[in-house]
Amino acid sequence: MRSLVMGALACAFLAACAQQEPAQLTGAALVERGEYLVNNIGGCNDCHTAMTPQGPDMAHALQGGTLIFQPMIEMPWAPYAPPLAGLPAGYTEEQFVAFMQTGVRPDGSRPLPPMPPFRLNEADARAMAAYIATLPQASPAQ
Ligand code: HEC
Repeated sequence: MRSLVMGALACAFLAACAQQEPAQLTGAALVERGEYLVNNIGGCNDCHTAMTPQGPDMAHALQGGTLIFQPMIEMPWAPYAPPLAGLPAGYTEEQFVAFMQTGVRPDGSRPLPPMPPFRLNEADARAMAAYIATLPQASPAQ
């Protein structure tokens, strides 16, 4: 009987532990995490920001860029990486979060290489979306 009670207690304790998840980030902390993921891990600026001899032009971060490299074999290829700042055109925030988890656009198509097919977890996808949504879009051509 005693071991039964102890067993039940241990189960209850373990269940409580198993339910503990890392605190969900919100607000500024979520944006800060997204900035880290986009700028230090994802490498998004290497393609989606105009390149200069000194590196990506961060004054126009993620406002779109012509790639400065190309494949050495014939293959499907997109030579231009579209603007993402303020979220990519035609995406809601939820659609962008889904795209970063699947690599599939809202219309079911997939971008051409060299866009990497990212498979982020939902928390990281949300953080990237929160950060990218804060970035200013390119001002319209005069
Ligand atoms: C190696 C270059 C490269 C990197 C790194 C890269 N991208 Fe891309 N991305 C592209 C190219 C090129 C396209 C356009 C593909 C096409 O036209 O089919 C694209 C397309 C996209 C699209 C689809 C836009 C649309 O119009 O549907 C999104 C969203 C996107 N990238 C987000 C990101 C994010 C976020 C990161 C960083 C986590 C990233 N990309 C990193 C090259 C890159």
